[in-house]
Amino acid sequence: MLVLAIESSCDDTAAAVVEDGRKILSNWVSSQIEVHRKYGGVVPELASRRHIETIIPVTLAALEESQTTLDDIDGLAVTRGPGLIGSLLVGLSVAKSIAYVKGKPLVGVNHIDGHLCAVLLESANLAFPFLGLVVSGGHTSLYRVEGVGKTHLLGQTRDDAAGEVYDKVAKALGLGYPGGPIIDELSKQGSSKIIHFPRALLSSKTLDFSFSGLKTAVINYLKAHPLKPVEKDRLIGIVSGFQEAVVDVLVRKAKQAARQERLERIVVSGGVASNSHLRQRFSEMAKGEGLEVLFPSPRLCTDNAAMIGVVGYHFLQRGWTSSLSLNAFANLPIPPDHVLE
Ligand code: KG4
Ligand code: ZN
Repeated sequence: MLVLAIESSCDDTAAAVVEDGRKILSNWVSSQIEVHRKYGGVVPELASRRHIETIIPVTLAALEESQTTLDDIDGLAVTRGPGLIGSLLVGLSVAKSIAYVKGKPLVGVNHIDGHLCAVLLESANLAFPFLGLVVSGGHTSLYRVEGVGKTHLLGQTRDDAAGEVYDKVAKALGLGYPGGPIIDELSKQGSSKIIHFPRALLSSKTLDFSFSGLKTAVINYLKAHPLKPVEKDRLIGIVSGFQEAVVDVLVRKAKQAARQERLERIVVSGGVASNSHLRQRFSEMAKGEGLEVLFPSPRLCTDNAAMIGVVGYHFLQRGWTSSLSLNAFANLPIPPDHVLE
């Protein structure tokens, strides 16, 4: 089964052709980083305008690379939320138009299910259930995943997402955008003095996260101890201490969740899952706990359409389709059983 998948929930315009839910025939992502860089974060109105300009060329490129045409495609999968509403509507409109004109089945997919199932593109025989941690610019959440699209929320951030805090701390330090990869690289250089920052909700039983206090702590530290451009060692000490605080909380809450839910496998996905220190700390924790930990490769951790195609394939196989009145929702929750409209 060939699925054409479209994803436009935030600042990446993406289209992919996926065969039988496991083989990527093409996976095109047009990044808008250059559009948003000078603002230090995604500007929703600019994002939707850029999606409108790039969605058709990206979709055509994905078809061309996979050497398929719209007639060869067996069905369409499209992200219907959560995300920026103006951005989501661009991808949704294109997918609905193709489905209508070509008479192909269409299915709406939750972006989070996409992140959680991206791993199936590289580990097709992965056994369920597993603990899923989605950690990105928009989300930091833990799930019990029983099957494709059978996802139960265990805990989530009560304020900022981890990636958002990476970006804001990098902005406060004048390091550029997006902050995650910059802080990741800087931290690898090592510092003689790592600054300690607070970890929220660690002693509590909750599987929720909170990162806004950490962001404020870094900003307050910088106000109290301004950083001079020559102080490279201190800069690295600050970003390493910040990163350690983020990763520490993610690892400890995931360990707590795996124990509580008696799960033997952890899948970590989303943009922040590309982080090298996070991967190292999760691997160490998993070894100590006798768990298996899997990370999709970095290009499948960040937003892409192939991950939407995997979920779409499984839904279409089950005969689950959406109607042409399918709508997008900025705050689409993960329901235990999917509402496809
Ligand atoms: O999944 P993604 O591409 O988009 C969202 O759905 O948000 O994630 C983007 C986020 C940004 O906040 C970026 O700073 C962060 O992922 N990120 C990283 C790394 N690479 C990207 N954070 C930490 N370390 C990285 N290597
Ligand atoms: Zn995402």
